[in-house]
Amino acid sequence: MGLLDRLGQRLLFALDPETAHKLAIRGLSLALHPTAPKPDPRLRTRVFDLDFPSPVGLAAGFDKNAVAVDGLLKLGFGFVEVGTITPRPQPGNPPPRLFRLQGDRAIINRMGFNNDGLDAALRRLRARGNRPGIVGVNLGANKDSADRIADYVEGVTTMAGVASYLVINVSSPNTPGLRDLQVAEVLTELVQKVRAALLTATEGRRRPPLLVKLAPDLAEPDLPAIAAAVSDGKADGIIVSNTTLSRAGLRSDPKTAEAGGLSGPPLFRRSTALLAKVRRLVGPELPLIGAGGVDSGETAWAKLAAGANLVQVYTGMIYEGQGIAAAINRDLARRLTEAGMASIADVVGTDVNRWAAQAI
Ligand SMILES: Cc1cc2nc3c(=O)[nH]c(=O)nc-3n(C[C@H](O)[C@H](O)[C@H](O)COP(=O)(O)O)c2cc1C
Repeated sequence: MGLLDRLGQRLLFALDPETAHKLAIRGLSLALHPTAPKPDPRLRTRVFDLDFPSPVGLAAGFDKNAVAVDGLLKLGFGFVEVGTITPRPQPGNPPPRLFRLQGDRAIINRMGFNNDGLDAALRRLRARGNRPGIVGVNLGANKDSADRIADYVEGVTTMAGVASYLVINVSSPNTPGLRDLQVAEVLTELVQKVRAALLTATEGRRRPPLLVKLAPDLAEPDLPAIAAAVSDGKADGIIVSNTTLSRAGLRSDPKTAEAGGLSGPPLFRRSTALLAKVRRLVGPELPLIGAGGVDSGETAWAKLAAGANLVQVYTGMIYEGQGIAAAINRDLARRLTEAGMASIADVVGTDVNRWAAQAI
């Protein structure tokens, strides 16, 4: 970590986590910071119909309202995922709802989809015009929604014109019942309906790829049916994974008693094993994005080797600072040289069997 990053981080850690986050977002939205060096050309990778300058992206939840996309891209991320966005604005859970577990370099959050709603995010993404950069849009359902599938349909049809890719988030632990949408039969129906609506909404135009974001807390026997549901519904990819309800692997910290989803290094092993299992179930072609505990070149490389085409970072940026994307980019390039590999695509899945053999 550079000196400025260290100073900035010290300052932010002196504040309560949510205030620190608001301040960081405000700073990044100004986009006054220097542009990170261009990633090594060997990091370029084509996934879906998109050319990613780096396989390292920013995960959903950091810029929920799409207010700092260009500032975030300047940090060296190969892509930024905004959201989760619900059709109508909602306040989320009452604070405090975001907790640092410093001894574990982890976070527990129960934000509960606090966001400005689709209209506000659409306006901001439209205002970007044709600025470059891959921007995914992660979509959710309002807490009080009477028809959750209709919320996702509204999300994709509203955002299709401004999203590089779209994500159906059925894996937040902080909206009661949301994860039940991962039950295979329900998931098939959800993906099919959303995809059909997206096809209609984009007739004659580019149709952004449609991804499903899964929880890490799935039971192993349910995985084949879930993978089949995603395939049957003709989703274009899967993000593995969201935060976990498990508290396994944490050092004792009073905050572990807080309810919510856990992220960061304690999630790494479980989410990577799940990613490898999903890779084995869906075969080599379906694009997968690996998230959960990526905070270094080493952990990013491990996710790729376990079967991810792309990776995402959230908690790592809180602890490693805003230089994390550039640092991982540099380290991945060095690792390619060391391994004698020509590109990121060569790394994908090279260690899938070892990871898939681990229990989740
Ligand atoms: C504070 C916080 C808020 C999050 N909000 C969302 C969200 O709105 N939608 C979503 O799909 N994932 C959300 N996530 C999950 C992350 O996108 C990511 O899947 C997870 O944190 C694992 O990655 P990490 O270990 O690098 O943080 C959130 C994570 C954190 C820490």
